[in-house]
Amino acid sequence: MSAMSDTGTHFRTETDSDNIVWLHFDKAGSGTNTFSTEALHELDQQLQSIAARCPRGLVFLSDKPNGFIAGADIESFTRIETEAQALDFLQLGQSVFNRLATFTVPTVALIHGFCLGGGTELALACRYRVARDDPGTRLGLPEVRLGIHPGWGGSARLTPLVGGLKAMDLMLTGRTLAGRQAKRIGLVDRVVPERHLRTAARRLILEAPAAARPGLIDRLSNSSIARPLLAEVMRRQVAKRAPRAHYPAPYALIDIWRNHANDTGAMLEAEAQSVARLINDPTARNLIHVFFLQEQLKGLGRDSDYKPKFVHVVGAGTMGGDIASWCALRGFQVSLQDQAPERIAPAMQRAHALFKRKLKKPREIQAAMDRLLPDHKGIGVARADIVIEAIFEDAEVKRGLYRELEPRMKNDAILATNTSSIPLEELAESLSRPGQLVGLHFFNPVAKMQLVEVVNGASTAAEVSARALAFTRQIDRLPLPVTSTPGFMVNRILMPYLMEAVTLESEGVAANLIDQAATDFGMPMGPVELADTVGLDICLHVAQVLASHFNAKIPERLQQLVADGRLGRKSGRGFYEYRKGKAVKPKISGSDAQLEEISDRLMLRLLNEAVSCVREQVVGSDDLLDAGMIFGTGFAPFRGGPMHYIRSTGPAALQARLQQFTSRYGERYTADPGWESLFNAQGD
Ligand code: NAI
Repeated sequence: MSAMSDTGTHFRTETDSDNIVWLHFDKAGSGTNTFSTEALHELDQQLQSIAARCPRGLVFLSDKPNGFIAGADIESFTRIETEAQALDFLQLGQSVFNRLATFTVPTVALIHGFCLGGGTELALACRYRVARDDPGTRLGLPEVRLGIHPGWGGSARLTPLVGGLKAMDLMLTGRTLAGRQAKRIGLVDRVVPERHLRTAARRLILEAPAAARPGLIDRLSNSSIARPLLAEVMRRQVAKRAPRAHYPAPYALIDIWRNHANDTGAMLEAEAQSVARLINDPTARNLIHVFFLQEQLKGLGRDSDYKPKFVHVVGAGTMGGDIASWCALRGFQVSLQDQAPERIAPAMQRAHALFKRKLKKPREIQAAMDRLLPDHKGIGVARADIVIEAIFEDAEVKRGLYRELEPRMKNDAILATNTSSIPLEELAESLSRPGQLVGLHFFNPVAKMQLVEVVNGASTAAEVSARALAFTRQIDRLPLPVTSTPGFMVNRILMPYLMEAVTLESEGVAANLIDQAATDFGMPMGPVELADTVGLDICLHVAQVLASHFNAKIPERLQQLVADGRLGRKSGRGFYEYRKGKAVKPKISGSDAQLEEISDRLMLRLLNEAVSCVREQVVGSDDLLDAGMIFGTGFAPFRGGPMHYIRSTGPAALQARLQQFTSRYGERYTADPGWESLFNAQGD
C-alpha cells in the first residue's frame, strides 16, 4: 500500500494511494510506546512535515503488539525537580497535541491494546477514534492514581466530547474502558474487529462524517448552572475514597472543570498549571515511587522460561479453594483435593461465582469450570507441575501429608505451602527432597490481594524459588521474595500494630477511634476492623507463633474474645457487632491530640518491626519491604511505604518518639538496633 515512506527514530510514515498518511509510533529501545520529551519533539516535527504535504487525512497507529500508547514516560517525571520544569514538559505535550487537533484534514487514532493517559489525550486530539473490539483493548485517563490529573488536554477535550459527568467519572476514578464501553459513552467512534481496523480508519477519512456530539443531558452537565452543584456531589463522592489532605489531585481537577468547562483555552492553561504544581507534591512523588515498586515486583521472574501447566491444590478451604479457582481463571489446569467431596463443593460454587464475575461470557465461564477438577482422591498429584498445600495450620498434619504426597509427585514438581506462620525448615523435615519445598503465601481474599510472599527456606533450591516467582507472575500476582522467619514479612510487621490496637481497646479507647486514627494516617481499614475481618482466631494463632519467637505478650482481651466464640465478622461479633456484614460503629469522637497519640502508638510499632525486618534481611531491600506492605496490606500508598515514610519523616524524630513511648508504655517500644544504620545512611 505504501507509496512513500519516511522513517525517524520513534515514528515512521507511509502514504497510501489515497494520499492518506499512516503515522506509526514504534518507540525505539522499548516494548511499549510512551511519550518522552524526545519522542514529543520528533512527533512535532513529523506533524509539521505531514501538514506541509497536504494529505487527504492522517491515521495515527502503534506498531507495538501490546498496545497503542501507555501514556507519558513516567521515568521522565522523576527527573522533574521544579514547577517550571514540569510546566515546560506539560506545555510541550499540549503544543504537539494542539498541532494535531488543529489539522484541517481528518485525523484518526487507530487504537489496539492499552491506550492510557497521554495515549488517550493524543487520541482525543484526533477528530475520530477507532478501537479494536477485544477485551485487551483498554482506554482511560488513570493519572489520579499517580497523584496528578490529565495535563495534555485530556480534561479540556474529554469533557465537551462525552459530557462533564461521564468525563469526570472516568478521570476521577482512573478506571479504564474496553472499546465497546468507550463507544457507549462516545469516547470512540467505531469499535471493530482487528481485521476491519484499517478499513474503518480509511472510511472515516474518505467519508469525513460530522464529529460526534454528546446528547443533551451530557451537554447540560457542562453548563454553568449545573457545574457548581455537580462539583459538590463529585467532591463528596471523592472524599469517601480519597481525603483531600492526602490526595489533592481529584479536587484540583473538579475545580478546573467547575471554573473553566466550555473554555478550551482556559482549561488547557489551568490543567497544565495544576499538574505542574501537583507533580512536585509529596503525594504524587510517592505514588510515582509506588508505581515503580510495582514494576519492580512485576519484573521478578521475568527471565524464567518455566512453563508449568498443571496445578494441584490440597485443601479446599478458604484459601485453597480460592487459590485453585484463581489459577484456573488464569488458564491453568487445576485439580482440587480435600478430605471428602462435600468439602470441595463450596469451593466449586465460589469458583463459579468468580468466573461469572470476571469472565461474563458463558463459553469462557464453562471453559474455566472445565479447567478446575474436584479431585478428592488426589489423582492430579501425579501429573502436577506445582502442588500447593493449603490445609490446616498444623506442622505435624502438614508433614504427614507431605509424606504421602512426595512419592507420588513428579521428580521436578514444586511443593508450595501456603502456611502463614510455620517456618519452612520445620515442614521440610519430612521430605526426601527438601529443596523442592517453597512457600507461596497468598493473602485473603485471594482474588483481591495482589501480593504473594515467596518464602525461601534454608533448603529451598534456588531454581525452585525462581520458578515460584515466575509462576506467581503467570497467575498475575505480585511476588515478594522473603526468608522463612516467623510470620515471614507482612504478618510480622502487621502483627505488633494489630496487637497495639487490641491493647488500646482493652485500655478503654473506643474501637472506632483507634480505627479512625489509622485511616486518618491513610490505612485503608482500621486495625480493629481488620482483625475482625481476618478472624480473631486466625489473628490469635499468628500472634501466638510470633510471640513465642519474639518473646512478646498477647493481650488477654484477644484470647478472651476467641474463647467466647467472638471471632469477628464471620461470627457476627468480634470487637464490633456486625449487621448484614457491616460493623456497627458507635459515634465517639476524640480530640486531635488523642488521635495523634493513638496513631503514633500504632504506627511506631509497625515501623519499628519494619526496621527490624530490614536489619535481619527478611527482604532484599527497603523498596521491596515498602512494596510488600503496600500491596499486601494497603499501607498508605501516598506515603510511599513504611521505610520511605521513615526516611521522609526523619528517623531521628521517630526514634525520639520511640524513646518517649518506651518510658510511657514499656519495653515493646524499644528501638530496634536497625535504626542506627538508618541514621548513618541519612548522615544524622
Ligand atoms: P480452612 O480450615 O478454611 O481449610 C483447610 C482445608 O484443608 C479444610 O477444608 C480441610 O478439610 C482440608 N484438609 C485438612 N487436612 C487435609 C488433608 N490431610 N488432606 C486434604 N485436605 C485437608 O483453612 P484456611 O484458612 O484455608 O488455611 C489454609 C492454610 O492457609 C493454612 O496453612 C493457613 O495458615 C494459611 N493461610 C490462611 C489465611 C487466611 O486468611 N485464612 C491467609 C494466608 C494463609
